[in-house]
Amino acid sequence: MPDQPSPPAAPALFTWEFAADPYPAYAWLRRHEPVRWTTLPSGVEAWLVTRYADARTALAHPGLSKNPAHHAESTAARGRTGIPGERSANLMTHLLNIDPPDHTRLRRLVSKAFTPRTVASFAPRVQELTDRFIDGFAGRGSADLIHEFAFPLPIYTICDLLGVPARDQDDFRDWAGMMIRHGGGPRGGVARSVKKIRGYLAELIHHKREHPGDDLISGLIKASDHGEHLTENEAAAMCFVLLFAGFETTVNLIGNGAYALLRHPEQRALLQESVRRGERELLATGVEELLRWDGPVELATWRYATEPLELGGRSIAVGDPVLVVLAAADRDPERFADPDRLDLTRRDNQHLGYGHGIHYCIGAPLARLEGQTALASLLTRLPDLALAADPEELRWRGGLIMRGLRELPVAFTPS
Ligand code: HEM
Repeated sequence: MPDQPSPPAAPALFTWEFAADPYPAYAWLRRHEPVRWTTLPSGVEAWLVTRYADARTALAHPGLSKNPAHHAESTAARGRTGIPGERSANLMTHLLNIDPPDHTRLRRLVSKAFTPRTVASFAPRVQELTDRFIDGFAGRGSADLIHEFAFPLPIYTICDLLGVPARDQDDFRDWAGMMIRHGGGPRGGVARSVKKIRGYLAELIHHKREHPGDDLISGLIKASDHGEHLTENEAAAMCFVLLFAGFETTVNLIGNGAYALLRHPEQRALLQESVRRGERELLATGVEELLRWDGPVELATWRYATEPLELGGRSIAVGDPVLVVLAAADRDPERFADPDRLDLTRRDNQHLGYGHGIHYCIGAPLARLEGQTALASLLTRLPDLALAADPEELRWRGGLIMRGLRELPVAFTPS
């Protein structure tokens, strides 16, 4: 039998070129090494899972724990959930770091805040914030959509959700900005902003206990006072995970989504016309497709094997870390027809952009509301919105978990 031709050399991962367009490398991995033992830029080793079927299996596998204590090399990588500065802040007891039964208990407590009814009640406020930020630059004819639009909208929304008083929201925005500007590295700025947020949340929780309002923190306190066993530290960790799971993700949904639309004029025209007619359907399928095609969460957060298991033909040992590459799974041709094509009308679209299994994104209804409101308003209010930079020159953030642009310069007719 003739020798099989050897596959082309494995592409380089985690370079700047890779950050700008990781999809060809992910296609190679899916094809040749769908479950691959890889050294990450931090030096930590982990399995990368790139096929859709394996990704779904891994995300819901009871033998894969979210508790960093199960990592074999615990001192090297414990606690890395993708949230910058988190370890230094002792805010570890949150949903993305725990397993049942604690996970079930804490998730039940917070899930009331994200029912379709509660989220729908946020729609007028999200629209008001969206209009306010667009008003801020609409008369100028140019803007950086990340800093002036995608960034402030989610942070003020989460502040409202948590019950951060209006007078403190600008401080909160500044601390959050420091965190994402410095990425996941152990820099002074990150540690300082986490410390500030932690101190502020502790005070706010204390204040809400005395003066409850109609907000999420007051709801969590009420639940814990009714015997649901939520410690003060758990309440602070819950606020923290909502802030950081719900903030940069949504920034990047709006940023990556707007960028994708600007690079696909025919898809954008379709959506623009549909929104102009007051329809919601294409907006809904369109935002899901933007999440599939270039979503904000490139890799799901860390998981650790608590039993020997097999995934995509590879043996995973107890203590091995596993990272599911959502961005690769969502372009798997075994699951999606013509996966590299952006098709806002796509209906068969069970993408993994919000994860899968018991850690499925609890904030998905809110993210959808924000993404749909932001993109629809941009297309309606700035109908000739255009990219004002060479795509080659745009810079992507270098983090492992999140995928998003540093800036997105646009131009339009001032209004
Ligand atoms: C487009 C925006 C968003 C995307 C793409 C997204 C994506 C995800 C993904 C992939 C996971 C699962 C991670 C894993 O299993 O490793 C997740 C979990 C989570 N998300 Fe989101 N998210 C978004 C917005 C939000 C918002 C707005 C909030 C809340 C305000 C939020 C709160 C959470 C929380 C608390 C979890 C942990 C749930 C659990 O462990 O049970 N997310 N998200």
